[in-house]
Amino acid sequence: MAKQRRTFVCRSCGAETPAWTGQCNGCDGWATIEEVVVAAGRGKPAAARAVQSLDSYDGSTSVPNPVGLAEVDRVLGGGLVAGSVTLLSGEPGIGKSTLTLQLATSVASTGAGVMLVTGEEAPSQVAARAARLGPIPASLMVLDDTAVETIVSTLAAERPAVAIIDSIQTLRVGELDASPGSVSQVREAAARLVGAAKTNGVSLVLIGHVTKDGALAGPRLLEHVVDTVLSFSGDRHHDLRFLRAVKHRFGPTTDVGLFEMTGLGLEAVSDPSGRFLADRRLDTAGSMVVPALDGHRPVLVEVQALASPHGDRPAAIAAEGLSASRAKLICAVLEQRGGVSTYGQQVFVSAAGGASIVEPGADLGVALAVASAIADRPFPSELVACGELGLSGEVRSVPQLERRLGEAFRLGFRTAIVPNSAGDGPTGMRLIRAGTISDALAQLPAAVGAPF
Ligand code: TYD
Ligand code: MG
Repeated sequence: MAKQRRTFVCRSCGAETPAWTGQCNGCDGWATIEEVVVAAGRGKPAAARAVQSLDSYDGSTSVPNPVGLAEVDRVLGGGLVAGSVTLLSGEPGIGKSTLTLQLATSVASTGAGVMLVTGEEAPSQVAARAARLGPIPASLMVLDDTAVETIVSTLAAERPAVAIIDSIQTLRVGELDASPGSVSQVREAAARLVGAAKTNGVSLVLIGHVTKDGALAGPRLLEHVVDTVLSFSGDRHHDLRFLRAVKHRFGPTTDVGLFEMTGLGLEAVSDPSGRFLADRRLDTAGSMVVPALDGHRPVLVEVQALASPHGDRPAAIAAEGLSASRAKLICAVLEQRGGVSTYGQQVFVSAAGGASIVEPGADLGVALAVASAIADRPFPSELVACGELGLSGEVRSVPQLERRLGEAFRLGFRTAIVPNSAGDGPTGMRLIRAGTISDALAQLPAAVGAPF
């Protein structure tokens, strides 16, 4: 019997600790620490192997095969690589099973073999859902089993092009007496499946639930053993879903796939700017449109601000769709460098329509939206703002300004307020250049008849 050692690992973040604790030191989660057994000591010495020049290996086998869903292929940089393992993580109910079923159907419709391992739902349930989404191709196979040993043998026998495990937390390795979803089971199951995928050239997709309470071992535990980690997220109150590559061994991780959950499954949102601006009301105070970057793609987002007096006290600032600390910083810059006081106001800032703003290029737009809300006067509806704000109030340049302005022009915006360093915009677009936030506020009344 090999030497073993006991250790303690957090189910949710994977941090290791020598003794059990009630709260994890890594992620501050409560009751997430679990005992696991690992090999101890150096083990038996093994014979050395001959090494080979890297040049002698064939790198052309790592080419992606398109899955046929444009948004997924874009995020994956072309598709799934044979023998690679992709982890799809997200909260329960967000649409992971739906997305992978659509992926499976799309790949199988080309005649390639696809194997769905359904640990959570009965095959008849999956068939009912698949039938609602469209015709079911003949090469879409189902394995209704949670025993890892059986799945590994079936992968070797069937060698499908793509195999999908729904979900990794339902699987069980027979030799371990821990329950499915525990750290030991999830780790061991993933390790064996990764081995089987590499040996048989199968593109493996593992679905992993992220649970807030840490009741199940989380996908973060597996991030280092897989080639690609995709995160599927969205706001449950909206139908929008975002697919992002958190880690990708075969390409960049910047592109974002955008979907809408409909009665007929997930539909790609081909014109995100149009979608985000669809319900916009013109001539409303506190509204400013920002050409933000979502990965490589410029997307227009409406920033909304609302100021509501709450007595003789310092401002309270809340944000939705962008970070609250960024919103506070922008309001402080607006007050100290732009001379717009938020004292005595409750300020709400949000990205409309379920959009999320994750880059500082929207700072100037957020500041102007707040200024407009406090003055209670609207901007002209064809104005966009683009620029990062520094703590001294300076308007800083942003990457890919030309493409952002191009997207704004396509949607009918004809005036943009931009950093001083900006080059020329699209022909027919007027640029207002501002060096600082106060410079922007000073120029706007004359330039566009804005409120300040
Ligand atoms: P599901 O893919 O089962 O989520 P996950 O696997 O991540 O837990 O999606 C569940 C939700 O999606 C459920 O609330 C129903 C909804 N849904 C639709 O709105 N339209 C559809 O066509 C399908 C299949 C699901
Ligand atoms: Mg599911």
